[in-house]
Amino acid sequence: MYGMVNKAIEEMITSRYGERTWETIKALAGVDVDVFISNEAYPDAITYELVRAASEHLGLASEAILEAFGMHWVLHTALEGYGVLLDAGGATLPEFLCSLPTFHTRVALIFPNLTPPVFKVTELQRDSLHLHYVSRRQGLAPFVVGILKGLGIRFRTEVVVSVVQCREQGAEHEEFLVTWNANANESSGS
Ligand code: HEM
Repeated sequence: MYGMVNKAIEEMITSRYGERTWETIKALAGVDVDVFISNEAYPDAITYELVRAASEHLGLASEAILEAFGMHWVLHTALEGYGVLLDAGGATLPEFLCSLPTFHTRVALIFPNLTPPVFKVTELQRDSLHLHYVSRRQGLAPFVVGILKGLGIRFRTEVVVSVVQCREQGAEHEEFLVTWNANANESSGS
């Protein structure tokens, strides 16, 4: 994956636990990279090893780390570095979710060798939708859950994410039911 992903993991760990913890996790992961370059591609194994080592060192499940990383991704990494892209995704949670299927097309203008996830929206209602997530990579569903929760915070909209089906249980791809408070962004007095 592009270095910006590993860089973002580094930022999250460093801001929460400090530089020394990050160095320990990197050593545990056997990663010998001083500085990750955002627009350079690194083997996916590096990202997975960093998450595994963080899980071991911090005593947290890797799913919890990936979920926290997803929230950090929206609220810090994307916001600080790619705010224009985030803004283009929509002004409300449902608008943004409906833009997910084409979102990484714009990201690919910056990162041309991207292997992006594929998203599809079905069963769109006033306060819910089903989000289908298809990826060649394994085990990143908790990252998606974290991003969805981060988007809830970004749009000040209560959001609940539940897993409808997942590959771990034999499904072909992940499917989430995303429910939100449809009144959150409506002006009062109407
Ligand atoms: C400005 C915002 C964003 C940027 C710059 C961005 C960029 C990236 C980059 C560089 C990768 C690594 C892929 C690779 O190197 O091949 C990636 C992966 C990924 N992104 Fe985004 N992304 C953004 C927003 C989002 C959002 C809103 C979602 C929604 C859930 C999302 C979901 C994912 C997932 C799940 C992956 C893992 C790849 C996989 O599943 O195969 N991203 N993104």
